[in-house]
Amino acid sequence: MAEEFVTLHHREHPEAGSADRRLAEVAAEISRTGTYTHTARELDFGAKVAWRNSVRCIGRLYWQSLIVRDRRKVDSADEIAQELVRHLRQATNGGRIRPCVTVFAPELPRQPAPRVWNDQVVRYAGYTRSDGSVLGDPVSVEITAAARNLGWPGGPGTPFDVLPLIVHGREDKPRWFELPDSAVLQVPIEHPEYGWFARLGARWYAVPVVSGMRLEIGGVRYPLAPFNGWYMGTEIGARNLADTDRYNLLPGIARRLGLDTSHDRSLWKDRALVELNIAVLHSFEKAGVTISDHHTESRHFLTHIAREERAGRGVGADWSWIVPPVSSAATPVFHRYYDTEQRYPAFVGQPKAPTDNACFSPHPAREDTTDGTGRTGGSGGSGGPDDALLDDTGNTHDG
Ligand code: ARG
Repeated sequence: MAEEFVTLHHREHPEAGSADRRLAEVAAEISRTGTYTHTARELDFGAKVAWRNSVRCIGRLYWQSLIVRDRRKVDSADEIAQELVRHLRQATNGGRIRPCVTVFAPELPRQPAPRVWNDQVVRYAGYTRSDGSVLGDPVSVEITAAARNLGWPGGPGTPFDVLPLIVHGREDKPRWFELPDSAVLQVPIEHPEYGWFARLGARWYAVPVVSGMRLEIGGVRYPLAPFNGWYMGTEIGARNLADTDRYNLLPGIARRLGLDTSHDRSLWKDRALVELNIAVLHSFEKAGVTISDHHTESRHFLTHIAREERAGRGVGADWSWIVPPVSSAATPVFHRYYDTEQRYPAFVGQPKAPTDNACFSPHPAREDTTDGTGRTGGSGGSGGPDDALLDDTGNTHDG
């Protein structure tokens, strides 16, 4: 694997010098230590190519612009948390989002690498109420319970409380860190025509930083290498805010649009979906935050494939992830098949950190029968936008 990667690097970057010399160096280091250390250029190249090889990602046209933050020396929880906040600020860039990856210490022969328990750096809490329903994002029920178990007092109790980071550094125990408000850019969702839309109180964060995947370059594993791009609107408007097991906003929106929700054939879900997606794109644009729509992104993806093929490279892609969740056949990516091969370097799935460390998660989320917010009365209060959202959607899931 090391050989294949070093050869690829030197083929695409002849200015890096003799591949044979570097191959001999790597072989010697491996026989001495059991692993080898990437040069800064190898790390930069490897991370970019890992993005280029992401079969589920439609946004790969700009793979060469990835900012690679080399933090391989960083392995204490404190410093990792600080670096994640810096990553967030650098990636957010006041709204002009820049794709970034921060690479932390690799796995070594007798030394586990640091991990972050959160699957994204910014996530909204999901609190299990005593009746089994969820306040907030049901996708985060488990991580929210884990944070509470570690002593996080809970947020203010809105449907959009930003979770703390849970970092397991070189120390023996994971620790939680609150993200500073100033580092978490968020966009309130409103509609260009419907004034009532803003009163749903929906919002989303500007930058998705995926922190649960492992970066693999030439046989070296980096279990903590959080990366971000910018959002495509449908991720928020057709999934996060719309899925019945997420924020489930469609019934509330449809009712306000005056649609007949008593049977599927009125296509109330479809009409509500379109308005929600218009609202997401409009709100991000108005807030000056980079976002793309699925039509543009689909075209860009086909441009990417053509460009890669001209460079003599194949592009692996997973149809079921590439095709957008709304208006699929109205986008060009729908009407073809793809090479499905997973090439390396790559970002790969890995077991969730908390389940690796069961001793730190003594109570399964389901047994958390408090309202989970650390306050009495849960979302309590009255009349605020958050209540409107909850009341309207009857956000009752079992997570
Ligand atoms: N789909 C995930 C979410 O909605 C984010 C995955 C990465 N997305 C991206 N545009 N880079 O939070």
